[in-house]
Amino acid sequence: MTELLAQVDLNRLPRHIAIIMDGNGRWAKERGEDRVYGHYEGVVSVREIVDICGEIGIGHLTLYAFSAENWNRPKAEVDALMELLVNTIRKEVNDLHKNNVKLHVIGDFASLPPMAQKEMGEAMEITAMNTGLNLILALSYSSRQEIVLAARKLADMVVTGTLQPQDIDETLFTRCLDTALFPDPELMIRTSGESRISNFLLFQLAYAELYFTPVHWPDFRKEHLLNALLDYQGRERRFGKTSEQIKNSTTPDV
Ligand code: IPE
Ligand code: IPE
Ligand code: MG
Repeated sequence: MTELLAQVDLNRLPRHIAIIMDGNGRWAKERGEDRVYGHYEGVVSVREIVDICGEIGIGHLTLYAFSAENWNRPKAEVDALMELLVNTIRKEVNDLHKNNVKLHVIGDFASLPPMAQKEMGEAMEITAMNTGLNLILALSYSSRQEIVLAARKLADMVVTGTLQPQDIDETLFTRCLDTALFPDPELMIRTSGESRISNFLLFQLAYAELYFTPVHWPDFRKEHLLNALLDYQGRERRFGKTSEQIKNSTTPDV
């Protein structure tokens, strides 16, 4: 761990890491357990990754915890996930607060069970003034839905006469997304070997570096995150330019 950490250039960290925490169900099945057991164990990984991100000074960490499509899973699994969310937040909020973590939620908050809304709402209030890691939970999240709602907000403003269509640009559009307050993720990690985005931050990931690992989420530890960071730091981010332009530029490529 310390050896790996020493290799990471702390001056070239992504400001925002987004993670699709996948593979809980398969991890549990491989052990002859119910899928829900994988979700419980996944919480251990969440704690580790939040800790290391806070320790090394990552500004924003978005965790895809529950997609809008996940509502279509068997009711027992959905119920277990919602209960786990409530219990985990309740248990962890003091430590998060102590560690100066500020909690946020993106997604369709109103669709969460009242208990989850209450627990998350309180946790966000408690941590609202913190200045360390911004921990963003994507809950009942659908990126397409988020984009559609942003378009609707802009259309409303045009109808009421507070906005001219020609004033709609990327900056304004970005401000209408749930992620308005956050920089775009520079690194997106997905565990469990699946190489897809699954309706996650479609707009915001436009220029993110994507990192896919076969490790299932419940096995994902600090070392895995540091390896992802090392991989990220070994990449050349060109943003449409040539390699020569990037090498001759004086601005850092993070
Ligand atoms: C990710 O693990 C957690 C959630 C989607 C809530 P999965 O539950 O998708 O696990 P697999 O992909 O079926 O193994
Ligand atoms: C994406 O994982 C959502 C979360 C990790 C919360 P899924 O396991 O639901 O994605 P698909 O259905 O395999 O694409
Ligand atoms: Mg999955």
